[in-house]
Parts: sequence; C-alpha cells; structure tokens
Amino acid sequence: MIKQTIIFIFFFSIVFGCSEKRADYTSERVMAIDPHSYARPEEVIVRHIELNLTVDFEKQSLYGLARVHFDVLKPGAPLTLDVGKGLQIEAVKNDDAMEANYTIGHEDPIKGRYLQIELDNEAQFVEVHYTTSADASALQWLEPAQTAGKQKPFLFTQSQAILARTWIPLQDSPGIRFTYSARIHVPEGMMALMSAANPMEVQSDGQYTFEMDQPIPAYLMALAVGDLAFEAIGDRTGVYAEPSMLEKAVFEFAETEKMLEIAESLYGPYLWDRYDILLLPPSFPFGGMENPRLTFATPTILAGDRSLTSLIAHELAHSWSGNLVTNATWNDFWLNEGFTVYFEYRIMEKLYGADYAEMLATISYEDLQEELENLAATNRMELSSLKANLDNVNPDDGVSPIAYDKGYFFLRRLEELTGRDAFDEFLMKYFDTHEFDVMDTEYFLSYLKSELLEPQSVNLSDEQLQDWIYGTGLPADMPQVKSARFEKVDTEVNKFMKGMNAGELNTNQWSTHEWLFFLRMLPKDLAMEQMQDLDNTFNFTASKNAEIFAVWALYIIRNEYQPGFNALESFLIETGRRKFLMPLYKEMLLYPEMATYALEIYQKARSNYHFVAQNSLDELLIQPG
Ligand code: BES
Ligand code: ZN
Repeated sequence: MIKQTIIFIFFFSIVFGCSEKRADYTSERVMAIDPHSYARPEEVIVRHIELNLTVDFEKQSLYGLARVHFDVLKPGAPLTLDVGKGLQIEAVKNDDAMEANYTIGHEDPIKGRYLQIELDNEAQFVEVHYTTSADASALQWLEPAQTAGKQKPFLFTQSQAILARTWIPLQDSPGIRFTYSARIHVPEGMMALMSAANPMEVQSDGQYTFEMDQPIPAYLMALAVGDLAFEAIGDRTGVYAEPSMLEKAVFEFAETEKMLEIAESLYGPYLWDRYDILLLPPSFPFGGMENPRLTFATPTILAGDRSLTSLIAHELAHSWSGNLVTNATWNDFWLNEGFTVYFEYRIMEKLYGADYAEMLATISYEDLQEELENLAATNRMELSSLKANLDNVNPDDGVSPIAYDKGYFFLRRLEELTGRDAFDEFLMKYFDTHEFDVMDTEYFLSYLKSELLEPQSVNLSDEQLQDWIYGTGLPADMPQVKSARFEKVDTEVNKFMKGMNAGELNTNQWSTHEWLFFLRMLPKDLAMEQMQDLDNTFNFTASKNAEIFAVWALYIIRNEYQPGFNALESFLIETGRRKFLMPLYKEMLLYPEMATYALEIYQKARSNYHFVAQNSLDELLIQPG
C-alpha cells in the first residue's frame, strides 16, 4: 500500500509537474508544500505577531523586536521562521526572557535563510530582537527630494511576494495566516500607517499603535511612514497622501465608496472594516498593492479625469480574491490575480457600463497575445500555463499576463458556459465558504466540479478543463472579445494610415482607453511627419497621463523622435513603476544609439528605483561579465 502510494505520488508529480504535498493544517485538505518558504507549519505554526519597531531614517533601518506567538502541532519540534537578506538577529528570547537556542541556515539567493528556534515545553511565544539592513529588499527609503513635499523623508514596504521576511522574521508563506499588533516609533511630525486599523491624524509624539485582528498572510504585512494627511471619501473609505497631493487624490478616487458597494453587491460583505487608499511617491514599483484596509497606489493613476481607477477596483477586489481566499503557494498565483481581474471588470461594468468593461477586456486580450508571442519567440511556452512552476524561480518573475489575463479569460469562459447568475452564485459561495482560508489550483478544480460543473451539467470536458489549467498557449474555446468603442478607434487608425491628417480624425469623447488603443494600433514605424502631426495635434509628448505617455514613448524610441527625448528621460528618472520601465528600456535596447542612451539614463535613475525594479532592470541592462 505504501509502495503504491509512493508510485502514485510519483506518477502524479510527473503528470502535473507538482511539488510535494502535505496535509493542510487548517482543514482536512491536502495542499502543495510552499517551495519559497522554510516554514514547517505542520510542526509549529505562527498565529499572532506583536511588533515593536523604531524607524530610523538616518541609518535607514528598522530595529526592535517581533514577539511571535504560535501553536505547537508536533510536540518537541522547533519553530522555523524565514529571515531575508540583511535582516540581523540580535537575540532570541523565550517567554521567560531567557536566551533561546537557535540556528540560522545558509543564505539561499531566492529564499534567504531559516531561523530555527528551540522551544521550551508549553512555550507560547518567542521574542526575536533584530535590525533591518539598508538594503532590505522590502523597504524603500526615500530622500525628501523624492517626495512631493521635498521636506521629509518617506519609507514604504512592499512585501509581496516573498519580501516580508526582509523586515520581519516570520513564516513567509501565503498559506499561513496570523493576526498582528504593532507599536511603531517614528520621528516627530510624521505619520505611520499599516495594513491594520489606522490613525487619521498625526500623533505629535511619533508613537503609533496598530491592531490587525483579521488573520492575514505575511505578504500583506505593510508599513508606510511619511508626511501624510487623511481625507474621507465616504463612510468606510478615504485617502492618505502627502498634503500637497491630497486634493488631487481625493478627486481621482471619489468613486471608491461606490465601488465598495458594488463589490459587496456582487460577492458578499466586505470583511475588513475600512477601505482606504495610500497614495505613494512615484518610485512605488507597482501600480497598486492590495494591503488589507489600506491599498498602496502609484501616483501615475492620477490622470485628472478618473480614467485610470480600474486599478482601484482591482485592488479592492483583492479584498475577496487573494486577501480572503489566498493562493496556497506562488504557483497558484492565478487564483489571486485571474479572479481579481475578472472581479475588477465586473465592478467597472456596473460603474461605467458593458462597453467600458469590454475595452478593458480587449486590452487584456492584446496583452495576453503579446505575451504569448514573446514566450513563443524565446522558446518559453511552458511559462504560459495557468498553474505555474516557480519552484526554483523568484516568484516576482511569475508576474505576467498569464496569471492575470489568461486567468481572467478562464473565468469568463466559465461564465459563458453557465450563464452569469449561476456563475455569480458559485463565486459568492466560494468566497463565503473559504473566507480567511487558503486555496490551491487542484482543490479549486475539485470544488469547481462538484459545486458548478456537475450540478449545472456544464458542457466542459475534463480534457478542456485540464487544458485551461495545465495546457500552454490558448485553449480552443478561448472567449472572443468585441469592443464597439475600439472598432471605431480602428476606423480612425485606418484613416490616418491612409493619409488623413490627425486633425481631421474623429476623436470626439475618447477616453484614456480609446487613446491607448489608438496608439497601440498604429504601426511601429511612423514617418517623422506622422509623428509630428500626431504630436502637434494631440500633444502626446506633453501628456500628463502616464499610461498614454508610456505608450507614446515607445514611438519616440522606435522613430528616434528627438522632440520627445527630454520627456522620455524625465519620465524614466521620475517614475519607478516597473510596468512602464521594463518595456521602455527593452525597446531602447533594440536600437544601437538608443541603447547607449538607455544605459546613461539608467545610471542616473537607478537609485530612485525600488529594489524589485532595480532587480529586473539590472538583469536587462547590466550584462554579466
Ligand atoms: N498584487 C499585485 C501586485 C504584485 C504582484 C506585487 C506580485 C508583487 C508581486 C497587485 O494587485 C497588482 O496586480 N497590481 C497591478 C495593477 C493591476 C490593475 C493589474 C500593477 O501593479 O500594475
Ligand atoms: Zn492584483
């Protein structure tokens, strides 16, 4: 029997390329072991963390302690925590304040080290005293010059995917949830915020306390410190920003309360109390990050006309998909992001109508096609399946349109097959049944079959289902997008290409999305006169809309359009959002003269970027040797 089981597991791993499995410590389910964490939650599992940290801007360091509370599931076993690059352990103490025995493992370039602590009988917590290093990957320390106010420094964290361990010793695996409380000491006059219940005013003594009483995984631990102020949007929603940015942000995000109501009407009550947004300085490497109760957002979505707020809908949607029902490991990342994109588009549909949402879906389709072409051209099609295999890979490299957009189209396909009502009912129940719980791809598939496909006799064979999840490329039953608004844009692109002047095109009432589509549909090579005509008529080079500028900048590069160089350079120096930086630098490398220019700009800009952006760009721009 044992032999059969082993053979079965072996066979299973070959078929699905999956890693080892173990019983889930929160239920009877069997989940994959997280390849990106040393934690052994089946032995000793973290349940609560008390932080007491001082924020030292001079040394660019956090120091203090984490009191880690746990349950012992296997008597006698040690507590195993993850510690990331540079995190220095000063002392480990038992709950009677005595020094505890511990060992620290060797540094793995992706996972960092383990910290294994021997526990006394009946112990309930240990205290880890520690200091973070100036190069802790999760932390970005900004000089005053990198902020809007230019007076005070700024600190923010980015813990997803596996960077929480560089500022807190913890079990850094998305399948492990804990509550936390914190005391944070900051310089006078500054405000501290966390993914927890937050202050609305500056505390004059610089002492802040936080409580997070809903259990969350480590990647949702977050802290920001800066010259910040708060303004309410609605009863449960509000914005934090530097004082000079607050008004603009409040205007841009004014629909947040409405989005929250729409989200609840779709998939059930919001279980996190408040939903606030923190507007970060431009070096924030992502568009948004769904830190519970406090989404972190890039200022590049302040278009002035609320046209880029689907990003807020996206981060809000994570309050269900991701934060309530969480991917078990980063190989199941599509469960977080694919569901969230689907949910995001449903919110936008209710807010602005089906034709608006279909524009977003069409952009998803374009992004997905482009990614698949890239993967095919570089012989990496194995990276195009929804279930990822990131076992020896940094999970940051798993962030691609596959999880987001292919994930979205899979759910859209299910909706097509079952009808919207049945699918919504299924999703509502899915979130309700698994709230504050972990989910992996295989368990989701069995739940999907028993709760939706079988009872509704859905016309989707097992082979088709497997193809969606484990297959590469696009499945034969890929849903088709059709955007009436983009068809109109196509017509204008064609007219322009046939020689009509830009000024004669019918661009009445175009939103940011139509402009983006227009730019994307133009052929890569444009004549100098065409570039000038477009720029003189539509002022793309001077656009304050970062999305529009970032696409236009590709044409500046491809066509070596000199009048755009200054704007391109400033954009690359000021913006730290990786999604914009990567395609621009990549494009520059394709043209010899531009490539030298790219390196020059990168030298000036690099220190403004967050570690995750630096990491991706170093790989691209600084050849080994
Ligand atoms: N959770 C992600 C950001 C993330 C993913 C950070 C993986 C680190 C590792 C967030 O919800 C997200 O998807 N942000 C997108 C915006 C969204 C509208 C697609 C972004 O930052 O561009
Ligand atoms: Zn997301």
